[in-house]
Amino acid sequence: MTATRTFTRVMVTGGAGFIGSNYVHYLLERHPAYQVVVVDKLTYAGNLASLADLDGDPRYSFVRADIADEAAIDAAMQGCDAVVNFAADSHVDRSLHDPGGFIRTDVHGVFVLLEAARRHGVRRFLQISTDEVYGHFPQGGESVETDRLRPRNPYSAAKAGGEMMVNAYVETHGLDAVITRGSNTFGPYQYPEKFIPLMITNALEDQPLPIYGDGLQRRDWLYVRDHCAGVDLVLHRGATGEAYNLGGGNEAVNLDVAKRILDRLGKPHSLLRHVGDRPGHDRRYALSTAKAEALGWEPRHDFSILLAETIDWYAANQPWWRAIKSGEFADWYAKNYAARGVHVG
Ligand code: NAD
Ligand code: DAU
Repeated sequence: MTATRTFTRVMVTGGAGFIGSNYVHYLLERHPAYQVVVVDKLTYAGNLASLADLDGDPRYSFVRADIADEAAIDAAMQGCDAVVNFAADSHVDRSLHDPGGFIRTDVHGVFVLLEAARRHGVRRFLQISTDEVYGHFPQGGESVETDRLRPRNPYSAAKAGGEMMVNAYVETHGLDAVITRGSNTFGPYQYPEKFIPLMITNALEDQPLPIYGDGLQRRDWLYVRDHCAGVDLVLHRGATGEAYNLGGGNEAVNLDVAKRILDRLGKPHSLLRHVGDRPGHDRRYALSTAKAEALGWEPRHDFSILLAETIDWYAANQPWWRAIKSGEFADWYAKNYAARGVHVG
């Protein structure tokens, strides 16, 4: 039987991002006696609006800091007995333009956090990783936690590097660390550079939906709250030094997902635009989740309902994403999509 740990003060890095902000809410709902310290650099992807409802909650505090900044992390980690590291550069397409930034945060930043955790005697460190570290699994079969890591793009290579550093601290310093490898996550508060929110918001704006290559790539979609539940379970019950796959069990072809979004919003399929493919595009990911399920994880698998709920959330919360799309996003969109043959502006 695995022991269940409890904590008093949890540092959540990247807590102003998509999964991190959902997790901060989940953590405080599930463990009302915990304190949470959110540490976030507030890059283009960080958004304090996603945590605005927690302002004034005595259990919540926010520190604006880079996880690679040793002094700032050292100060913020005072009194924390657990660290959950969501902070990362997370978008594969951006890693093709600026791989150096990914290495600074997703590898060096992890090292800075681990060093601080060791010095502060943190009792548990959870590194949020990704199914992309396995590389792709073009046809049939599923990745299991003992498979070799074969990342194929700068983002996933950097995430694999972060994992290796975590393993090194478990082995050499006896740090109590665990890793989760989540699949493609979707739900409220996701930055609209990612596939599902991009398709929804472009459709709502009657803009073309850019489909890379033939659009027949497959992803395994995991609802954000299920991802958070898996993370929380591994934080409290995972075995030291182990990695746990968190997959949604919702394998779907990109083109079909885009068509479902158009159908739900009553928009025509003529908005679909096949554009130049992503270099090194991983064809398919698939995860065995037996290990997390043995720990007690029970994700909801009803993709149709969860996708519909997500579409409705973006339709109902237009100020949230319209503010993003009118800022930095516009420059990114022009840079990434004009080169792929999408008319921009
Ligand atoms: P996101 O891009 O929405 O958020 C990342 C957050 O990290 C932002 O708030 C950003 O400001 C912050 N951040 C970035 N660099 C930082 C730095 N140097 N110091 C401090 N804060 C920094 O990302 P997300 O989609 O929420 O992903 C969160 C984590 O989950 C990442 O580690 C990612 O690799 C992993 N993951 C994501 C998915 C997915 O489908 N989105 C799936 C599996 C794993
Ligand atoms: O698998 C987990 C990973 O999922 C996470 O580790 C990453 O942080 C997260 O960004 C995500 O990576 P992907 O590259 O799979 O996600 P993205 O949303 O960028 O793309 C999903 C699929 O949709 C992929 O096959 C590429 C395709 N796509 C994406 C965009 C942005 C398009 O066809 N058109 C697009 O405009």
